[in-house]
Amino acid sequence: MIRIFIDGTEQQASAGERLIDAINRAGLALPQVCYHPQLGPIQTCDTCIVGVSGKLVRACAARPFSPAPESAFAPE
Ligand code: FES
Repeated sequence: MIRIFIDGTEQQASAGERLIDAINRAGLALPQVCYHPQLGPIQTCDTCIVGVSGKLVRACAARPFSPAPESAFAPE
């Protein structure tokens, strides 16, 4: 497990896990119109855009947990 921060709250994530799955497990509200865990990231709606280290990324496609042991994420 890897320690991450979402909106300043420490969470645990598995290596290689999608950011959107960590956000959903944390119970945080984030729109995600085209994402379903069984389908994977379709990346067409852009409703899941979040800020990661100053860059806007799709949470459904981001797997930011390696190689960095810690990262700060803030859904916007
Ligand atoms: S949920 Fe649609 S682009 Fe991420």
